[in-house]
Amino acid sequence: MQKRDALYEGKAKILYATDDPNQVIQYFKDDATAFNAQKKGSIDDKGVMNNAISEVLFQLLEKEGIPTHFVERLNEREMLVRKLEIIPVEVVLRNVIAGSLAKRFGLPEGEALSRPVLEHYYKSDPLGDPMINEFHIRALGLARDDEMKEIEKLGFRINDILKEFFDQRGIILVDFKLEFGRHQGKILLGDEICPDTCRLWEKGSLEKLDKDRFRRDLGKVEEAYQEVCRRVCA
Ligand code: TMP
Repeated sequence: MQKRDALYEGKAKILYATDDPNQVIQYFKDDATAFNAQKKGSIDDKGVMNNAISEVLFQLLEKEGIPTHFVERLNEREMLVRKLEIIPVEVVLRNVIAGSLAKRFGLPEGEALSRPVLEHYYKSDPLGDPMINEFHIRALGLARDDEMKEIEKLGFRINDILKEFFDQRGIILVDFKLEFGRHQGKILLGDEICPDTCRLWEKGSLEKLDKDRFRRDLGKVEEAYQEVCRRVCA
């Protein structure tokens, strides 16, 4: 496997071409941003931990029949993935009221939702990822109806699998963000699943073990990622 030129650099990852047109290398950086990159920083070894955590979670999901872009972890900071045509819709699943949902409804964080909620956001840095609905997705031609139906089905199934997995490790899966893409006519789960893209609370203490520690300047950011890594990668 030959690593070639960088194809795309995002806020937390870089994608490199390989000699196989169907596969790319996903490199995990330590850079951390929040509030659409208005806040910038770095979390020591975040890239290493997110690569390791994502590997375990993609393998778990594959085992449960969820098609993902994951092929194999190559080294500490890189994984080989199938090349996707990313659908520019971020899919957020929520089990507990927190973050922007708490804000939108004027509710305190921490109340469990009576059933999971799935939301769509338009993936656009210049616009700050605004919330959209299925009518917008259809009207703007971001994805086909059958693709969105498949994504919705996968989203709820992924939530069930991950919720149980984290619960067994003493962690509440509060909410998380997924990205999907097209690969050889199929919808695959892409991106990463890690404390950058999930809210994870310690079951007993409700201590935050995710990027909210960075977003909200709560301290012990590295320690939180290490704790998730310890429980997930054991
Ligand atoms: P929110 O409550 O801020 O809308 O975030 C919902 C979930 O999505 C949370 O688990 C964090 C994740 N997320 C991302 O992965 N990327 C983002 O840019 C934002 C704002 C949230």
